[in-house]
Amino acid sequence: MTIGFIGVGLIGRALAEKSVRAGYQVVVSNKRGPDSLASYVRELGPLASAGTVAAAAAADVVFLAVRWPHLEEALHGLPDWQGRIVVDTNNPISPDGTYAELGNKTSSEVVAALVPGARVVKAFNSLLSAWIGDEPRQPAGKRVVFMSGDDAGAKNTVKSLIAAFGFAPVDLGSLAEGGKMQQAGHPLALLNLLLTN
Ligand SMILES: NC(=O)c1ccc[n+]([C@@H]2O[C@H](COP(=O)([O-])OP(=O)(O)OC[C@H]3O[C@@H](n4cnc5c(N)ncnc54)[C@H](OP(=O)(O)O)[C@@H]3O)[C@@H](O)[C@H]2O)c1
Repeated sequence: MTIGFIGVGLIGRALAEKSVRAGYQVVVSNKRGPDSLASYVRELGPLASAGTVAAAAAADVVFLAVRWPHLEEALHGLPDWQGRIVVDTNNPISPDGTYAELGNKTSSEVVAALVPGARVVKAFNSLLSAWIGDEPRQPAGKRVVFMSGDDAGAKNTVKSLIAAFGFAPVDLGSLAEGGKMQQAGHPLALLNLLLTN
């Protein structure tokens, strides 16, 4: 299974490193293009390559890790998303630091509309990148990663990835209900929990 990253800033890098450590092949992409990522992929090692956003979007599982105001531009013009698995790590934060206006939708429902036909799973958004980068297997238990989504198969795949990275996945249900609980500004955001062994 290959993993693509659209955006490899703080959150994308933390997750790309976890992916490579777990033995997955990754394709990383950013706004400035593959050449800007040459030294980073050397650091990540032979399982990593840098590509265009379209190349990252062609992976089996695609992590979206771009700041909210840039998501639409990052995803514009990409080919068919039908059936593909997209992991939404994003929080709806405007450039001035306030929450973006979403009407009565969750942020993942807004993201899902930008990747029509994709099977979107929300995960990792509620942890700081430093917590994701840290060792998830602590003596007291494994760090919890909340996840939500509407497609059981996609959720199983993402659940297995979260576990392979060393975390404890906790499924909160649908994007509308679970996605809301884990979204920034809601009760489960920024909870750094360990699930005891
Ligand atoms: N930082 C955290 O602790 C944290 C925790 C949980 C969730 N999140 C969420 O994760 C998302 C990413 O946050 P971050 O802190 O990782 O942001 P970041 O460090 O600013 O990184 C953003 C990445 O997106 C890329 N990008 C921007 N515009 C793009 C475009 N048009 N096409 C392709 N790539 C583009 C940037 O590429 P360039 O470098 O080339 O500009 C960069 O690699 C946000 O939605 C945030 O709310 C962040």
